[in-house]
Amino acid sequence: MPLNDCRLIELPKISDPRGNLTFVEGGNHIPFDIKRVYYLYDVPGGSDRGAHAHKNLHQFVVAMSGSFDIVLDDGDRQRRFHLNRSYYGLYICPMMWRTLDNFSSGGVCMVLASEPYTPDDYIRDHDEFLARARHKPFAAA
Ligand code: TYD
Repeated sequence: MPLNDCRLIELPKISDPRGNLTFVEGGNHIPFDIKRVYYLYDVPGGSDRGAHAHKNLHQFVVAMSGSFDIVLDDGDRQRRFHLNRSYYGLYICPMMWRTLDNFSSGGVCMVLASEPYTPDDYIRDHDEFLARARHKPFAAA
């Protein structure tokens, strides 16, 4: 899928003097059904996370607290997104190499995912990713 398919999605926000409320419905606000939720927290300053791609997984990433950046790379082009509000998030389609960095202190990254944890769905080798993304045969060592 091309990088253009990945995008920031603004979520409904019910503003209220008692505190704001935002919700996400799979298949409605985001283009997949949600089968898993995980989150990154207590991230030390200067840490990078990610540095892999997924073959089939769709994800939606929200900065629940603080801020961080996500760099997406489709094997051809790169784009950096800054997430710093809990009422929008980044939809990441399959076959995107992603790196998360620039975490603020207290940054919490919540990820909604289309599938349960599946180790075989990961591509952790960047050369393999480039070969697959560019439809070239990959000669595994
Ligand atoms: P990983 O996705 O590799 O995170 P990052 O690329 O940011 O380091 O996950 C880190 C570890 O957590 C890895 O050993 C797999 C495990 N893990 C699960 O067991 N279930 C999950 O849903 C996720 C996302 C990770």
